[in-house]
Amino acid sequence: MCGVAGRSTNNKGNIVDGYKVNKLAGSIILAVLIIMGIKEVNNALNIPDKIERQAYIIEGVEPEGGVTAEAAAVVEAVPVESLAMRLASADAVAGAKVFKKCTQCHTIDQGGRNLQGPNLYNIIGAAIGGQDFKYSKNVAAKGGIWDYEAMDTWLKKPSAFIKRTKMVLSLRKDKDRANVILFLRQNADNPPPLPVVDIAPVIDEAAPENAPAAAPEVPTEAPVEAEAEVEATS
Ligand code: HEC
Repeated sequence: MCGVAGRSTNNKGNIVDGYKVNKLAGSIILAVLIIMGIKEVNNALNIPDKIERQAYIIEGVEPEGGVTAEAAAVVEAVPVESLAMRLASADAVAGAKVFKKCTQCHTIDQGGRNLQGPNLYNIIGAAIGGQDFKYSKNVAAKGGIWDYEAMDTWLKKPSAFIKRTKMVLSLRKDKDRANVILFLRQNADNPPPLPVVDIAPVIDEAAPENAPAAAPEVPTEAPVEAEAEVEATS
């Protein structure tokens, strides 16, 4: 009976076989579609990753080390920080370490001798090229004083501030310069006050009358003195 049915070419048999074939083909197509679908979804999920990687390349930040877009933005924002802000957060102890690069050519102690460069005690606020030292022509002729801006510009690249100077060492890092400038300031008898940090205009609007009063000559030292007084009287 089965044999007869299998070989049967009657209508009923054909319909049954055709149905089976269709079902099989349908299953295969479905399987292919599912596989393609998974691939598509996979590709779709990969797209943001590719965009992120391209963003790194455009910003010039190396993708290794897991640098996020925010971190890259912070790095870019650093050079915008004003000298006043850098000095306000500077560290003289770190500056003393940076100054080790200078000791090859400079002493910092009061009355210290000149080496390849002049002694730097009291240099902050002093005349440019004003020590008892044989300066190169342009340094001797420059004029002006070593205020914080001048010192920062000089240390960033001496020859950019005074052409053909004999001093060649450049401190590229903003932070190193701020730290070493604070260290130089500590090694001066009567240095000019640190530049006042320019607080955002939003705060000025909020308290316009308080703004001038809240800007003492040496903002970092004033509160400490006030506290000491309170302690002494109580
Ligand atoms: C390789 C030697 C050398 C090193 C290192 C060096 N300097 Fe100088 N510096 C000189 C010389 C030389 C001069 C005088 C420049 C001239 O006359 O052209 C000078 C001049 C200066 C002046 C101007 C002084 C004045 O009286 O006007 C300052 C400020 C100064 N150096 C600071 C520094 C600091 C801070 C460092 C370390 C970060 C440093 N220098 C590292 C050689 C050096």
